[in-house]
Amino acid sequence: MKHLSLAVASLVMLTGAAGAWAASGGSKVNWQSVSVTVPGPGGFYSGPNAQILNTNCVTCHTAGFAERQPTLSLAAWTVEVTKMKKAFGAPIVDADIPIIAQAMFSRQAK
Ligand code: HEC
Repeated sequence: MKHLSLAVASLVMLTGAAGAWAASGGSKVNWQSVSVTVPGPGGFYSGPNAQILNTNCVTCHTAGFAERQPTLSLAAWTVEVTKMKKAFGAPIVDADIPIIAQAMFSRQAK
């Protein structure tokens, strides 16, 4: 019985909210399409070592996000990639950590 009265109370509240929305002119919302240009570099890596980076480094954030970070040393990239694995749980094989760190280091050195 308690459940039933709760359900009725919820229904009354919902109906009331919908009525208030309609009364406030909610039905006059003017929906329209917009176009957004996402800044590059985009979601995936291209060029040298793109394959290992796209395999390990684009599931949680875009390539562009990592590539727009400040310039780092090779040692700092090793710490960074290890952090992605240990702190954030990226499923990176240990043997790939130095390869990925070198790949990220070489990219920014241009
Ligand atoms: C499991 C998810 C995940 C994966 C996979 C991942 N990252 Fe991250 N990454 C994160 C999170 C979470 C942050 C922190 C974002 C923030 O600070 O707001 C981050 C931040 C970064 C940063 C910014 C600096 C920092 O430490 O916050 C860089 C650079 C970076 N990642 C590089 C990489 C590289 C290179 C790879 C591939 C080895 C990678 N990420 C894979 C989750 C991930």
